[in-house]
Amino acid sequence: MILMKDIVRDGHPSLRKKTTEMNFPLSEEDQKLASDLLEYVINSQNDEMVEKYNLRPGIGIAAPQVNAEKRMFALHLTDEEDNIVSFVAINPKIISHSVEKTYITAGEGCLSVDEVIEGYVPRYSRITATGFLSDGTPFKKRLKGLTAIAFQHELDHLNGIMFYDHINKINPYAEIPDAVAYDRS
Ligand code: NI
Repeated sequence: MILMKDIVRDGHPSLRKKTTEMNFPLSEEDQKLASDLLEYVINSQNDEMVEKYNLRPGIGIAAPQVNAEKRMFALHLTDEEDNIVSFVAINPKIISHSVEKTYITAGEGCLSVDEVIEGYVPRYSRITATGFLSDGTPFKKRLKGLTAIAFQHELDHLNGIMFYDHINKINPYAEIPDAVAYDRS
């Protein structure tokens, strides 16, 4: 299982590489990576597991964060309508998005970034995303709210982009045009 010691931190070259598309069927090793990533985010939201294994809670993790140059990430979260959103995305893409933007008022965090980095991270409010599940099944999802934000954060990891790259360097809390604030609390 993935533990905090397996997660590479800011400054590691893996976090700055653009991954290339994966081929199907996935190797056994890659299928295991997919299930390990999802297992991490699930465990990291379970108090007992967090305590036992010293996990930092997260809702998403991407393969480059465990030093694997693979185009995949896992998401596990409860959305605004109390649905559990839980999947691994392979070769994910955003095929369309809203003009409206959003940002989490408290800012974003990342399992690979140990310190708090303040500021608004602009994201699209709604996206249509495609990709494949780990068994090769294609998916097309319309996502909004926290799920859309998390999808964009994780997709960035596959392109070597960190969340703080999007923060306004001069004024981290500068108003974002066309954006609606997202309050996670
Ligand atoms: Ni991250």
